[in-house]
Amino acid sequence: MIIKTNILNPVSQQKAEFIPEVFISISRGKISSISKATLSHDFIDHSDLICIPGFIDTHVHLSQFYIRGSHSPTLLHWLNTYTFIEEFRSKEPDFARKVAQDFFRDSIKKGTTTSVIYTAPLKQACDIAFEVAQNLGVRAVIGKTMMDSGCPDFLKENTNTSFKESVELFEKWNKKTDLLEYVFSPRFALTSSAELMQLIGDFAKANDAFIQTHLSENHEEIKTTLQLFPDCESYTAIYRKYNLLGPKTILGHVLHVDDNEIDILRETKSKVAHCPDSNFFLKSGMFPLKRLQEAGIDLALASDVAGGTSLSMLNVMKMCSFRQNDYVVSPQEAFYYATLGGAKVLGKEDIIGSIEEGKDADLVFIKNPDQNKYNCSELLSKLIYVNEEVEIISAMVAGRKMF
Ligand code: GUN
Ligand code: ZN
Repeated sequence: MIIKTNILNPVSQQKAEFIPEVFISISRGKISSISKATLSHDFIDHSDLICIPGFIDTHVHLSQFYIRGSHSPTLLHWLNTYTFIEEFRSKEPDFARKVAQDFFRDSIKKGTTTSVIYTAPLKQACDIAFEVAQNLGVRAVIGKTMMDSGCPDFLKENTNTSFKESVELFEKWNKKTDLLEYVFSPRFALTSSAELMQLIGDFAKANDAFIQTHLSENHEEIKTTLQLFPDCESYTAIYRKYNLLGPKTILGHVLHVDDNEIDILRETKSKVAHCPDSNFFLKSGMFPLKRLQEAGIDLALASDVAGGTSLSMLNVMKMCSFRQNDYVVSPQEAFYYATLGGAKVLGKEDIIGSIEEGKDADLVFIKNPDQNKYNCSELLSKLIYVNEEVEIISAMVAGRKMF
């Protein structure tokens, strides 16, 4: 397949490029060449569109899709009032299938081709999410949320059962196809026993598996967590103690961390999912973007639906910029965190995140607001800040058209 189009690509944290009128050749799901000319007359003409790499959402809760926009004053109130009850609804297989289908369809319509997902703390719901992802052909890293303490009884798992079921899901689904991987997903320290965290940490390290959890999102959460683990000097130190940190660990939020905690994140090469829309919505606080960046920590953007209100990564980019009071986030930087930066967080920057020869063809085509008028920077600025007017025309994952 050959497509004539215009490429808008992330290059680095501060740089993007606009390459007009090129031919992208796709063979066996990969970009085999990008050239200024083609000898073939058989190409798809998308020269009126702009091609960007598919977005990567590094932290999102599939089973919470229907409760977007349920207003609450704080995180813990929101979890107890809406979230746990909603996640329990996925106990019904039909419901679990419907929410997974609706989630993935909306996600791909919004240009996201890779998602890092928490499902409800129910084995079958996670299994169904994988099935739906496989059938649709999307790229996803999926894990069953784990909770064995400090949560309502209707969702509380037995420690060993929680671990065993996650291992079974890992063995069934991890790398089952090129597009699917498993992520061990202890919700956060408040709902995890020390024993559960240690089991997960040790198993994931021994099996080179992803781990995801929440870290330091809300002041009340932090205070209660530190009371539960009095022998640890910080929230981050709890996760270090139980072997949860490392280069394949993605920590959501990371708002109220001190310099010692940032040192731990850097030393362990842990990754950070920044969820600005959710941080706004739940009044959780401002993300220390500059401090984490200066410490050299890999970070990327995430919707955190349903703490976040939308699966649109264009909206998340806008919130990333709006949520910083002193630091100016350029459109190029926000774009990087939603694409190539996300790939780096996943250790997949050689496969996805930008449009380059040899990478998988995870491509999104959008209507060009005005090709003649905008340069790269103006174009990106328009896409991010006037995102409600952006028309996403089609998307493909590994060369396969999704819509
Ligand atoms: N902390 C623990 N669980 C959650 C969740 O589901 N959403 C958010 N935003 N924070 C959490
Ligand atoms: Zn979350």
